[in-house]
Amino acid sequence: MKFISANLDNLRKLYIDQLQHLHSAETQIIKALPKMVEKSTDPQLKQALDTHLQETRGHVTRLEQILRQCTGQVDSKKNKGIAALITEGEDIITDANDEAVRDAGIIAAAQKVEHYEMAAYGTVRTFAEILGETQQADLLEKTLDEEKNADSTLTQISDSANTRADKAA
Ligand SMILES: [Fe+2]
Ligand SMILES: [Fe+2]
Repeated sequence: MKFISANLDNLRKLYIDQLQHLHSAETQIIKALPKMVEKSTDPQLKQALDTHLQETRGHVTRLEQILRQCTGQVDSKKNKGIAALITEGEDIITDANDEAVRDAGIIAAAQKVEHYEMAAYGTVRTFAEILGETQQADLLEKTLDEEKNADSTLTQISDSANTRADKAA
């Protein structure tokens, strides 16, 4: 049960609320990615996840910059959607007992996270534009582009990874 209302009665409050949830999402992803890198076998997959881990640190920096501009401080609101997607990924890593199948599963889990982020950043970018926060919209668009790139890199890697998984005993 929720006892404290966030009192979202205008678009600016909703915008800030969504940024705070994204801050929580990105910090959860930073914690989860090293294990996914470690448990990946395909060198291309390892590299792609590691590169995106570095980019994700930049996503947090951008969100903190925007939140400071908006509210004077950085508050995080627990992102339950990302928490569930990360748990899904951890379950796959635990349950997959073939390396190639695990790689395919890690890609599947990572792409779900990227798609969540693409939806969320597309929304806050548009909110920023409507609110006249052009510079914030540009920063959020940069992150959105990196999420899209990460997703398309994973799609490319999945071509060979899924084929290898299909040949698993
Ligand atoms: Fe991100
Ligand atoms: Fe991402």
